[in-house]
Amino acid sequence: MKYLVIASLIALAISGPTVTFKNASPALKDSDLVAPQEMIDLINQSQDSWTASADWVGQMTIGDAKSYASASGEPRSFPEKDWGALLDSVTPPSSFDSRQQWPNCIHPILNQEQCGSCWAFGATEALSDRLCIASKGSINVVLSPQYLLECDKENFACNGGIADLAWLWMKDHGVPTYSCVPYLGQDSTCPTACSNGSQLQVYKASSVNTYSGPSSMQAAILAGGPIEVTFQVYQDFMTYSGGIYKHTTGNFLGNHCVKVVGWGTQNGTNYWVVANSWGTSWGIQGFFNIAFGQCGIDSQAVAGTPLV
Ligand SMILES: *[C@@H]1O[C@H](CO)[C@@H](O)[C@H](O)[C@H]1NC(C)=O
Ligand SMILES: *[C@@H]1O[C@H](CO)[C@@H](O)[C@H](O)[C@H]1NC(C)=O
Ligand SMILES: *[C@@H]1O[C@H](CO)[C@@H](O)[C@H](O)[C@H]1NC(C)=O
Repeated sequence: MKYLVIASLIALAISGPTVTFKNASPALKDSDLVAPQEMIDLINQSQDSWTASADWVGQMTIGDAKSYASASGEPRSFPEKDWGALLDSVTPPSSFDSRQQWPNCIHPILNQEQCGSCWAFGATEALSDRLCIASKGSINVVLSPQYLLECDKENFACNGGIADLAWLWMKDHGVPTYSCVPYLGQDSTCPTACSNGSQLQVYKASSVNTYSGPSSMQAAILAGGPIEVTFQVYQDFMTYSGGIYKHTTGNFLGNHCVKVVGWGTQNGTNYWVVANSWGTSWGIQGFFNIAFGQCGIDSQAVAGTPLV
């Protein structure tokens, strides 16, 4: 292992500095590859926690990659949940997976494509699952990220958005189903009817809260299901193909919103189980594991109770 690393560093030195390291000066151009092969090899060879692959990222450039990570977790629009003494009196299980707990309520992985709409996906996906859980399966719908993208003008459609503002919209106005307003991956005018002309029926969130820190987030998931989080994406994240992600190399690209569905522990490392919105060919069929505390994954969560 040690020799492989040394060998690859020597190879890098000879072939020139195509790989950028953490804390390297950000001299990256938008036209540079986001994950050159040398970076993928370096990730695979320098640590055992997770594996990198070129399969999904291919020849993606830095510029393209930035459009997959263009959200913000700030500013906050809702109060931090105060669990009071409850948090101290309950010990969460060492692992938990919403997909096992509520098998019919955790909806399939979606694909935001090359549009910076993760803020809308994380929000509508978490509310869809929560609606199903709260209604004991009687309201089992996938809500429309496209509707948020077109109607929530506090956010910036495909140019990014703020997770809390998406929840504010879902609380004040509600969102219809995905099949009513299907995904286009681009901005358009806010619809007043479903795409087939039928009447819009919206679903709303109520009592939205923010959560920070593992215990508070675990309590939120146990109580109501998946939550939306915002975290920092670095170049290496784009290559994730399995294991427990820990930022290893590469520069910061932007913030990204995703849906946390559970957590687990392996060899003393606690990690979150997260649904991404980059399709099922990314990561572990669209999901990833990330160690607690990495890249701000557990500092900016938000979720609300669905109105049923
Ligand atoms: C990285 O390592 C994994 C696991 O050993 C392997 O499946 C994958 O092919 C490797 N990727 C590259 C690009 O070397
Ligand atoms: C139109 O779309 C809505 C939402 O998907 C659906 O419930 C309804 O059945 C559709 N109506 C027709 C006439 O296809
Ligand atoms: C966990 O630790 C054991 C013992 O050190 C090791 O053999 C195993 O490969 C580790 N598993 C992972 C997934 O890191």
